[in-house]
Order: sequence, then C-alpha cells, then structure tokens
Amino acid sequence: MVTVSCIKADIGGLVGHTSSHPDILDLGREELELAKQRGLLIDCHVSHCGDDMFLIMTHDRGENNTEVHKLAWDTFIKGTELAKKLKLYGAGQDLLADAFSGNIKGAGPGSAEMEIDERPSEPIVVFMADKTSAGAFNLPLYKMFADPFNTPGLVIGEPLHGGFAFEIQDVKEHAQITLNAPDEIYDMLVFIGSPQRDAIKRVFNRESKEIAACSSTDKLSLIAGRYVGKDDPTMIVRCQGNFPAVGEVIEPFTTAWTVEGWMRGSHHGPLMPVALADAHPSRFDGPPRLVALGFQLADGKLIGPTDMFDDPGFDRVRDEANLIADYLRKHGPFEPHRLPLEEMEYTTMPLVAKKMNQRWKAITDDAGPQSIMSAPIAEVE
Ligand code: 13P
Ligand code: 13P
Ligand code: MG
Ligand code: MG
Repeated sequence: MVTVSCIKADIGGLVGHTSSHPDILDLGREELELAKQRGLLIDCHVSHCGDDMFLIMTHDRGENNTEVHKLAWDTFIKGTELAKKLKLYGAGQDLLADAFSGNIKGAGPGSAEMEIDERPSEPIVVFMADKTSAGAFNLPLYKMFADPFNTPGLVIGEPLHGGFAFEIQDVKEHAQITLNAPDEIYDMLVFIGSPQRDAIKRVFNRESKEIAACSSTDKLSLIAGRYVGKDDPTMIVRCQGNFPAVGEVIEPFTTAWTVEGWMRGSHHGPLMPVALADAHPSRFDGPPRLVALGFQLADGKLIGPTDMFDDPGFDRVRDEANLIADYLRKHGPFEPHRLPLEEMEYTTMPLVAKKMNQRWKAITDDAGPQSIMSAPIAEVE
C-alpha cells in the first residue's frame, strides 16, 4: 500500500496574496528531500498555486500519520520564518494553531490523503486551487463521477457502470453522510448544491470499493471563528481503469464555474483553470485559479508531472472566465458578486454593523404626522 498526501498552506504571498516566493518553495523541497533521505517519504513534489504552497508526498505510513503531518507542519513553520524575513505578505497566514498537536487537521493547513493499492499503472491528478474555498470541487466531482454527459465511461466503461459513492461532510455540524450515484443523485444534490456547508470529502467506486478521489474540506473561518484568508483547497483524483479517464477528470473544468473566494475571500468569481506559469492571480486578486498536475505512480515514486491545463483546449474556458469576471465585477459591492450575508459574518462586516448598531431604529406605524410614509393612504390623498 502507498499513501499519497497533499498538505497545503498559505505561509506568505509575493506580492500581497498574488504568488509564492521561489526561495520558500525551494525550502519546502529541501525539507521534503531530507525526509526522503531519512526514509519517511518515498517521494515528494513541491508546487504552488498563487500564494499557497502544496506539499505532494508519497509514503507507506498511511493516512493521518503523525510524522508525515509533523513534517508538513515543521516545513510550513520554517517557511513562515523565511517569509517573515522576506516580509512576504501574510507570513504564516494559515498556521492557526500555536503548536503541532499530532495531526494537521484543525491547525489551519488543508489536507487530502489516500492510501491505495497501487495498480500496474496508476495515473493520478493533483489539483491545487487559490482564491477559492473548500467545497469548490463539489460540482466538478459530481460531473466527473455522476454525469454521463461529462464521463461517457459511466455508460460505456464496464468498471464504472456500477456508479460511485460520495462521502459528504457537513463542515458546520461536523457530520458526514455517504450517498450513492446514480440512485441517490437527487438526494445528494440537495446537499452538495450548498458547497459552503456540504463538501464532498471522498469518492469511491461502489463495486471495487476503491477510493477514487479525496479533497481538502478544512474551513479556516470555522477554525479561527473569523476571516483569515480562504481555505484554498486541494484534491487528488485517480484515473483510468475503475475510474474516469484522465480526460474525463479534467473535462469538468471546461466551464468557469462560479466559486467563493477572489478579493478578500468575499466574492463570487469564475474558476479559471491555468498552467502553472499562470498560477498567480492578480486581477482583483484573482480570478480564482486552478492548476492540475498529472503523475504516474511507480512504486510510490511520482513520475511527472504533466501540467494538465497547459493546453490550448482550455483557452476557451479561460476566455469565458474573463467574460464572467468582467460581468460580475460590474456589481461592485452588491450581491451576487459579494458573498451573501451569512458568509460575510466571517469578514470585517460584523465590526461595521456593530458601529452602526445605535443608528438603527425600529420601524413603527405611529411615527407622527410628518411621516407621510406611515400615514394611512386616505389621509395622504
Ligand atoms: P489511445 O488510443 O491514444 O491510447 O487512447 C485511448 C483512450 O481511451 C483515450 O481516452
Ligand atoms: P488568500 O486566501 O489566497 O490568502 O487570499 C486572501 C485575500 O484576501 C485575497 O484578496
Ligand atoms: Mg494569502
Ligand atoms: Mg491563497
């Protein structure tokens, strides 16, 4: 068995929240290489999307392994020290815990991990997002694993024909449910259609019982109780054989889906799939970006990556994203560009509201003769 772990955090941006400093990424690489030399990791790859650093690691320690999680935490701490020296923006932004306590979960960084029985050929795609939020993969995962218009393999691929099981987490109530596609898609859509609350954590092939996909569902605002930057998510998806083909896995991103995030983490914007070279969201701190790195596993070694969205086939969706960005930006501070009130509770919104508290008066029907609005219609006439 081999475990693929992707643990990520924003530990500082260059400039502002735009991108990552090469020295920080090099530091990440050096730390993981040392861990490889001392036998903790089989292999590793360090990358970034915007201001988030992603540690892609393979090992034989299983999921939720303390040593692997500690390696990630310590790497982020060291990276933060360097980020502070370089005075990068928001140094240590995602490190919410005071100290490591055995598991990275609940400490700020996001994680997606899967322990698998490596097949004779094991293609995987690791997704890395910035300026969006946990739950952003709900719609794409639904298309990948439940929509035959996206994935013909569900119809003509015998090993996929039995459907997939979706493990969904209610991130506010800390509850989870598993629902089956295709039989229960109407029930499932009730929940996953609200990605800010219900996020798909894992997907399984119902017949082979194998894990097919895993995403990070860690919500920074729920950990911190206030807005501290967005929980830019990651996701690992297995391809081919009992799973969708590589092309079926990336096909959902040919539409620039509306996601939460963008400026101050408080706006809806289009998710733009990009090559790594374009993974530095700048316009209005966005639009939200997604990078997909494809690997072949070989006895746990990460062969690759192939930069999957570095393909003219995705030019059109990038144009679409820019069009949607223009349109949504025109709304300025109005919904639906700005997030609904419930989500704004984690921003500075409550502080402004508090300042205005005394100015609000109850609407009464007897405001006096000078109030035309409250007078009966007959009297006004
Ligand atoms: P090749 O014939 O190029 O191997 O492609 C097979 C396939 O299934 C593509 O989706
Ligand atoms: P990040 O969550 O990527 O740090 O972005 C925060 C932000 O405020 C962007 O405007
Ligand atoms: Mg940031
Ligand atoms: Mg970020």
